Amino acid sequence: MKEPLKKPYATLRFSRPSYVLRRPVFFVGFMGAGKTTLARKLARLLGVSSIDCDTYLERREGRAISEIFARDGEEAFRDIESAVLGELASGEAQLISCGGGVIGREENRRMLKEGGFVVYLDVAPEEAAARISSTATRPLFQNMDQAKKLYEKRHPLYEEVADVSIATAGKTVSQVADEVTAILKEEGILCLRPR
Ligand code: S3P
Repeated sequence: MKEPLKKPYATLRFSRPSYVLRRPVFFVGFMGAGKTTLARKLARLLGVSSIDCDTYLERREGRAISEIFARDGEEAFRDIESAVLGELASGEAQLISCGGGVIGREENRRMLKEGGFVVYLDVAPEEAAARISSTATRPLFQNMDQAKKLYEKRHPLYEEVADVSIATAGKTVSQVADEVTAILKEEGILCLRPR
């Protein structure tokens, strides 16, 4: 009787390739577009670093964004946001998820365009509302009317800074992650780490 073929288990084991980023990659888009979730997922899948501007900002300031808005107002928050963007844009090449309003200031748009590759994750406010778990942490997403007006105002600015725009409606995070991965490879921004 013939010996059953032994499977080469060692070679079948899945080993994930590790990548390097050649430039910072910024994710911009409306609140609820999935910027933070996507950057984290991609970082895990690709073995690169990611950072969330809002989380970094809250740690840097030692208080929550909602508190900064409530105590000091939106302009004070925007000043800190611009400073944070400047710090991250001149730092290591990583995946950077930005706050939804970062495109409001001209100086920020310039930093984004000059600082790296910009991915716009487009989401309609209706779908964004369904994705947002709590509006308590988002002082500028309190009702649908306000959100729609803000989206209309911002959409052209997101388009202005974007190297690529991705429509996220009806897509899973994995689908968007695959799409972004393919684009970054094609652009020569995401490369296999030399062994
Ligand atoms: C804001 C979006 C928030 C946060 C702040 C202001 C905005 O970030 O930066 O509440 O102006 O759209 P997310 O887009 O991550 O929710």
